[in-house]
Amino acid sequence: MKVLIVGGGGREHAIAYSLSRSSQVDRIYCAPGNAGIAELAECVPITPMEFDRLVAFAKEKEIDLTVVGMDDPLVGGIVDRFEEAGLRVFGPAANAAVIEGSKAFSKELMKKYRIPTAAYETFDDPERAREYIRGLGRYPVVLKADGLALGKGVLICGDEQSAMDGVAEIMEERKFGDAGKRMVVEEFLTGREVSVLSFVDGRTIRTMTSAQDHKRALDGDKGLNTGGMGTFSPSPFYTKEIDEICRRTIFQPTVDAMAAEGRPFKGVLFFGLMLTADGPRVLEYNARFGDPEAQVVLPRMENDIVDVMNACIDGTLDRIPLRFADNAAVCVVIASGGYPEHYEKGKKIEGLDAFQGKEDVFCFHAGTRTDESGAVVTNGGRVLGVTALGQDLKAARARAYEAARWVSFEGAMMRSDIGKAIDEAE
Ligand code: AMP
Ligand code: GLY
Repeated sequence: MKVLIVGGGGREHAIAYSLSRSSQVDRIYCAPGNAGIAELAECVPITPMEFDRLVAFAKEKEIDLTVVGMDDPLVGGIVDRFEEAGLRVFGPAANAAVIEGSKAFSKELMKKYRIPTAAYETFDDPERAREYIRGLGRYPVVLKADGLALGKGVLICGDEQSAMDGVAEIMEERKFGDAGKRMVVEEFLTGREVSVLSFVDGRTIRTMTSAQDHKRALDGDKGLNTGGMGTFSPSPFYTKEIDEICRRTIFQPTVDAMAAEGRPFKGVLFFGLMLTADGPRVLEYNARFGDPEAQVVLPRMENDIVDVMNACIDGTLDRIPLRFADNAAVCVVIASGGYPEHYEKGKKIEGLDAFQGKEDVFCFHAGTRTDESGAVVTNGGRVLGVTALGQDLKAARARAYEAARWVSFEGAMMRSDIGKAIDEAE
């Protein structure tokens, strides 16, 4: 088979790795890819929103399967375009990807189908939003830009003043662009966060092993929200009991709700959950693998990923049991100094060779490229995701931090407390 991956981050590197392990895959292309993905795939200089060029490329190369990693093209309808062209593609159609593309849509869906989530209201008028927040008078309050905002369009406001500023930032200053045309105001929940990713074929859902992300930029969950600074898998807080509740009240009900709405979901459905004292609640849905959740979940998956993706496309997922290794993984993200705000690119990365030939560590590239001199340089906010496998979470964490020290570049920063929660689980 010839496979095309759309995207160029750490998640797509992890997807490329999984595809490269399939005996069915002969050749991988990635658009646009990055310097790390280039070791497994032929990178093609087409950006993920250039649907016409991607379709033309897939036809010309006779691609058998296209895997879309990123949210923007999914929400923008890339899957519909590939299907119209008669090409086989893994991911949800636009009418289903809206579950991630619009927070107003997903909140409405959960309300209608009684899927547990935080109480909320949606606004398209900032003045109304301000009145509502003042009326509630309860802080912290959570403000969410309706649309896609690279995981950063969520503000948790501790008092009235910061909430008023937040409304202005999202809806008037449009800090997150058009994502802020509408806004959701939500009740603040407390508890452990867990990410559960799943494969869905429109009807059947198969969940993957759990993971926990670290969204804030700095140690101790301080600093701004980012795309994710590190992950571990499995989550010791995601017990069998909680899994049972989630299956009954969240997972299958969501898949059934989408089907009932005439929006059958096919692809990876990601449940961002908060385990509150009153039970699990949905914080958000994503229509794709998490980044960096994929970097800890996929290396633990034992299935041939092509079989699973094909079953999602063909509606035969009920025949596929998912299998995960009885081990653990930790991913530490190494970011550019200043991320998620201002940072520089083009810094030379040293030490990447240390990962060659190692079976228990992976250096997934998130934002890298090869420069004119052939050197690998930084090319984004999140630069690398160093993942280690271990027999348990502690062993994986120790190994991930050891391996993270093998690489360096000017201004590199990482959190030193990824997986700290592991100690609290004991
Ligand atoms: P989201 O993009 O919706 O997952 O939000 C980003 C992050 O903001 C989440 O991972 C949580 O840490 C936090 N968050 C979102 N919604 C809430 C909420 N209702 N209560 C508390 N924290 C939240
Ligand atoms: N790591 C969270 C996300 O991919 O949205």
